[in-house]
Amino acid sequence: MSVEVVASGPPGTDRSESERLRERIAGVLERARERTAALTDAVTESELVAQHSPIMSPLVWDLAHIGNQEELWLVRDVGGREPVRQDIDHLYDAFQHARADRLALPLLDPGQAREYIATVRRKTWDVLAEHPLRGSRLVEDGFAFGMLAQHEQQHDETMLATHQLRSGAPALTALPAPAARVPVSGEILIPAGEFTMGTSTDPWALDNERPAHRVHLPAFVIDAAPVTNAQYAEFLADGGYRRPELWSARGWAYRTEAGLTAPQFWLRDGNSWWRRTFGVLAPIDPQQPVLHVSWFEAQAYATWAGKRLPTEPEWEKAARFDPATGGSRRYPWGESEPTAATANLGQRHLEPAAVGAYPAGATPTGIHQLIGDVWEWTASDFTPYPGFQAFPYREYSQVFFGGDYKVLRGGSFGTGEVACRATFRNWDHPIRRQIFAGFRLARDLTPHESERAAS
Ligand code: AVJ
Ligand code: FE
Repeated sequence: MSVEVVASGPPGTDRSESERLRERIAGVLERARERTAALTDAVTESELVAQHSPIMSPLVWDLAHIGNQEELWLVRDVGGREPVRQDIDHLYDAFQHARADRLALPLLDPGQAREYIATVRRKTWDVLAEHPLRGSRLVEDGFAFGMLAQHEQQHDETMLATHQLRSGAPALTALPAPAARVPVSGEILIPAGEFTMGTSTDPWALDNERPAHRVHLPAFVIDAAPVTNAQYAEFLADGGYRRPELWSARGWAYRTEAGLTAPQFWLRDGNSWWRRTFGVLAPIDPQQPVLHVSWFEAQAYATWAGKRLPTEPEWEKAARFDPATGGSRRYPWGESEPTAATANLGQRHLEPAAVGAYPAGATPTGIHQLIGDVWEWTASDFTPYPGFQAFPYREYSQVFFGGDYKVLRGGSFGTGEVACRATFRNWDHPIRRQIFAGFRLARDLTPHESERAAS
């Protein structure tokens, strides 16, 4: 018998359960806000209002946009409260102004932006305390709160990419990523068969991850680890950026126009490569996954290596399928939330970790570092799952379907834990390199392997 049940509210509610959910929501919102503050307190006011790159917003725009989205969804929509600053909505609507044009807008200054997001957050705490976390799809299981925590973490990762693009003295610090603990190399065979892709039950999964559906895949082979800097350097040394036959037509045109000769932020010194990472120049770590490559570069490397990028269903099956039960799991290692031992997430480190650094995060089949370290480009375009329904707004996913976007999976060292799971889908243009993206390779079975797999 439980004492808590005696104190429960209206029929069907369990007070302790909803209190636990509120505590979890408060925790993820607070964690996101601490990270937002760290990213924006690390630079001067003039750097907050600077355009560090034409493809990024000024940091002060991300800052107030975080608060504005929270106001729109949690304060006004869920809470039904009076607007805090309805007059500024249009300034922080990402669809009204391109990133390069945002600096010219009459934005809140850094002091005003900080005050604004703090005011919104105080109202959010009132709404969280008073509003039932059930009764509508938007608040069921705290979805809207989880969505806003994920939104803030997504902009934190975007702001981290802006930090990487800024010039000047280092502004951020973190412990180095862990070293390899186990040797990891080679390929893993995933046998033919159906698996469940996407989810209908994960309460904070976003619309594009839904619904769960069965997908049959022929047998395929996937690398146990992402492609490393050492491997990528071999491609460079073998003339990878000078051989059009390795590239798609579009990829070669892009490579030529943009003058690409190596991943972004790489610098050659004689026979060795260095990288500028958040203002620190250091030799490339050969064991870390390659970072800051476009989809076109990943695709050229794959051709050079005689392989290909995994499709999105292949990536998800590799990450989720549990051969012991036939089910799909939330993470490669099972259902438990990521920890410092299982994945390099949340800006705990400012770099991907060496391959082999997270044996506790591997799949039962022996595939490592699917979650964290680097986003992994897949071969797939960003399209809706069968039965997709835009929720709660078309501008999160729907307006991007069918556009010039490739799907990335798995999250990076800069992805917040709350915004990362094996069903999570990210997408970007195939030319983009400022995101924290690398890749791993896959291939079809050889005729000999197919014969053996069938027998
Ligand atoms: C899912 C990462 C592509 O940053 O453009 C943030 C996330 N959507 N605000 C992006 C997002 C609205 C989105 N990505
Ligand atoms: Fe946003």
